[in-house]
Amino acid sequence: MHSKYDEGFEKLVHRFRRHRKVREMKQYMQHGSVTTYDHCEKVAHLSYRLNRWLHLHADEKTLTEGAMLHDFYLYDWHAEDDGTHKWHGYIHADRAADNARKFFDIGPQTEHVIRCHMWPLNLTRVPRSREAWIVCLADKWVSARETLFERR
Ligand SMILES: [Fe+2]
Ligand SMILES: [Fe+2]
Repeated sequence: MHSKYDEGFEKLVHRFRRHRKVREMKQYMQHGSVTTYDHCEKVAHLSYRLNRWLHLHADEKTLTEGAMLHDFYLYDWHAEDDGTHKWHGYIHADRAADNARKFFDIGPQTEHVIRCHMWPLNLTRVPRSREAWIVCLADKWVSARETLFERR
């Protein structure tokens, strides 16, 4: 079932899908039985659709880049080990943004989307662009659904 909306989306996410480091997110669990990779794709797809449906006029490249990489922190946050992941909620957006800069040629707009997606938990990182607002809200919606309905 492919609409013409989805074709545009496929083109935008293609380079992330085949990237070795992005695929590494398939090893980590996000919520319930969902991997971090699947979570990112779901947030990207919802962000893309919200933008089209509601005519929000966000930049589609920035939007999908930011959404695909918003949780690109590359570790299993459930592994409590020495307790360093206790602050996962607060630090992972910065980790993801640093990785995104390291592995992709992202601009400041995309970096902003990633760093601000955890607002309001990170009170000082307020979304200040359409793209950042859309990803922040799509992430909350997708995360709530995963936590409530996609348990193992
Ligand atoms: Fe996150
Ligand atoms: Fe997320």
